[in-house]
Amino acid sequence: MQRTSWPTLLEQIEACRQCGLVGGIRRKVPGQGNPDARLLIVGEGPGRDEDAQGLAFVGAAGQLLTKMLAAIDLKREDVYIANVVKCRPPGNREPTPEEAALCLPYLRAQTALIRPQVILMLGATALKFLVSPTARITASRGRWIERKGFWMMPTFHPAALLRDPGKKADVWKDLQMVRDKLAELGEKHAS
Ligand code: URA
Repeated sequence: MQRTSWPTLLEQIEACRQCGLVGGIRRKVPGQGNPDARLLIVGEGPGRDEDAQGLAFVGAAGQLLTKMLAAIDLKREDVYIANVVKCRPPGNREPTPEEAALCLPYLRAQTALIRPQVILMLGATALKFLVSPTARITASRGRWIERKGFWMMPTFHPAALLRDPGKKADVWKDLQMVRDKLAELGEKHAS
């Protein structure tokens, strides 16, 4: 499903019934933002607010994400925001490897359409499913991972920051690295 169009992809996500998560949701949360973004942000999966609105990162963690982006002079509309899974796991549990494996082709197709220069992974789950099941967020954050032409930066999830504000200094460092990398890379070339 690597090369598709946005309308086809969004229809496929809307129609998807590949795993059991779909049985417990109100809305699919495909992700939203600039379809030509230089920065793609990937979280874990929709929570209660996201499930109600059909939009990624609109609850408390999302409000903090908006502030984090503002700190590096980005608006939500500048970036694309998505998750590993498009359906809310019950009780906000972590998606299983099977659920993630079935859903990740959608994120890959989104990534192929967006062609971001930088991918910011928010939290352990995004790191685990996008990079490696053995990668640890505490050891990996703040270090670039270059994969398939993308610069990938793991950092703590904003929900983790809400629980432990002591992580803020590290996240600020990671965001500055993202800002500097985007400046270094310059505007995207036309496809
Ligand atoms: N947490 C996530 O990982 N994603 C969202 O969309 C909201 C909260």
